[in-house]
Amino acid sequence: MNDFVLAIDQGTTSSRAIVFDAKGTIVSTGQKEHEQVFPKAGWVEHDPHEIWTNVREVVGQALTKADLTHENIKAVGITNQRETAVVWDKTTGKAVYNAIVWQDTRTQKIIDRLAGDEGADKYKDTVGLPLATYFAGPKVVWVLENVDGAREKAEAGDLLMGTIDTWVLWNMTGGKDGGVHVTDVTNASRTMLMDLDTLQWDESIAKDMGIPLSMLPEIRSSAEVYGEGRRGGLLPGVPIAGILGDQQAATFGQACFEVGMAKNTYGTGNFMLMNTGTEKVPSKNGLLTTVAYKIGDAAPVYALEGSIAVTGSLVQWLRDNLGLIKDAPDIEKLAATVEDNGGAYFVPAFSGLFAPHWRSDARGALVGLTRYVKAGHIARAVLEATAFQTAEVLDAMKADSGVELSELKVDGGMVANEVLMQFQADLLDVDVVRPQVAETTALGAAYAAGIAVGYWSGEQDVIDNWAEDKRWTPSMDADERGRLMRNWKKAVTKTLDWVDDDVD
Ligand SMILES: Nc1ncnc2c1ncn2[C@@H]1O[C@H](COP(=O)(O)OP(=O)(O)OP(=O)(O)O)[C@@H](O)[C@H]1O
Ligand SMILES: [Mg+2]
Repeated sequence: MNDFVLAIDQGTTSSRAIVFDAKGTIVSTGQKEHEQVFPKAGWVEHDPHEIWTNVREVVGQALTKADLTHENIKAVGITNQRETAVVWDKTTGKAVYNAIVWQDTRTQKIIDRLAGDEGADKYKDTVGLPLATYFAGPKVVWVLENVDGAREKAEAGDLLMGTIDTWVLWNMTGGKDGGVHVTDVTNASRTMLMDLDTLQWDESIAKDMGIPLSMLPEIRSSAEVYGEGRRGGLLPGVPIAGILGDQQAATFGQACFEVGMAKNTYGTGNFMLMNTGTEKVPSKNGLLTTVAYKIGDAAPVYALEGSIAVTGSLVQWLRDNLGLIKDAPDIEKLAATVEDNGGAYFVPAFSGLFAPHWRSDARGALVGLTRYVKAGHIARAVLEATAFQTAEVLDAMKADSGVELSELKVDGGMVANEVLMQFQADLLDVDVVRPQVAETTALGAAYAAGIAVGYWSGEQDVIDNWAEDKRWTPSMDADERGRLMRNWKKAVTKTLDWVDDDVD
């Protein structure tokens, strides 16, 4: 068969385009990193125009490598770094400011103002999220309040906002010449502006934030035809038919279709999602309630989510800021030079702490240091930080859902790391299972698009195509597990109450 589905995975670190065949196997890939802009402590930006250029480039790479043209592509799915917000002028197509990235903490004062006397859970019943710098809506507020002329233009109806899915879709479908201004329910559920029951914008929250409704995209399902690739582009006339936020896409690609099924993705950050079916489960333990997916006219499926801001990016930090390793995978060799963490614990609260703590006043700490500690121990502590944070999230997941997982499906760049995966299984005391296609984010978006156009018939195809690659089984005794977790929790307490009011 000469027909394929293309997924565009616009991530925090890089953009990828992947061509999949009907078995869900990777045919070809294009990938390119983009610049991380850090204008001040706590601020993280991307140039949305660079992202759009890279998306086009990686689509070209993927098609060229497999010797395909747009005629071989049945549908395109988009998946994206979530919560990252762009505001642009619909007449010129130019962004009025860089994209403000999900990790960025500059909106703290806006968050405090919105919370007022009612506190961080003010909108939680409606949107499933606590007020935190993580989410997209307040980032748009920051642009409206801080970029010259933005407020006036927005009031005049000249500006559009979007998460990255919307920015990519608008540009792919023609941009200022007829671009489609749409998002899907999963991305919309990360703005703090969507009502989880109606799946529509909550006008009163938009009003509280001062965001004109004319800026907001239309909310659609995760699998339907939104538009076609623009004429003169690389994918003219090809239906763009799937959108899922990256973590929801991975949940879909991992075939977590039954209530209680969960996956954990180890990328820039870590994100565990558990399917809770058509029921939205409010969290009492620091998790988020979010939309997992909505396929066409079918009822929406919800999830509980544990979001961890810094995991793989701590490995990058060790590489880029400390120069202890040359490439991310080298951390495994460095960690293997020692037996254990040597007493060192690294809590990477670089953007405050996300789930299950939600402490924006926290900042990173490396504790337990003695003269004994060497680079190998720090490498080990860096890897262990990912596993410890995941263990805390899994505990919250159990408490909120009442589900005891028998195994955890994992994916993302860090699952190549055997030291980490074994330690993770040891710490969780459940099997950790990696699928053959570790690019589940792109795969999930491809499935959504392929299902929308009838390339795949439905979820059963996803289940049939899923295959196990490797399994790690716990081998640590309970006392050791308990000792490690106790130390970790102590280390976390050392990061709290760090940021004072006089810091922006
Ligand atoms: N062998 C490895 N051991 C530990 N960490 C690794 C290894 N290989 C990659 N990483 C880390 O994994 C991350 C990349 O994973 P992945 O490509 O899944 O990220 P991502 O979150 O999808 O990226 P994006 O944010 O662009 O979507 C990087 O942060 C990198 O430091
Ligand atoms: Mg990713």
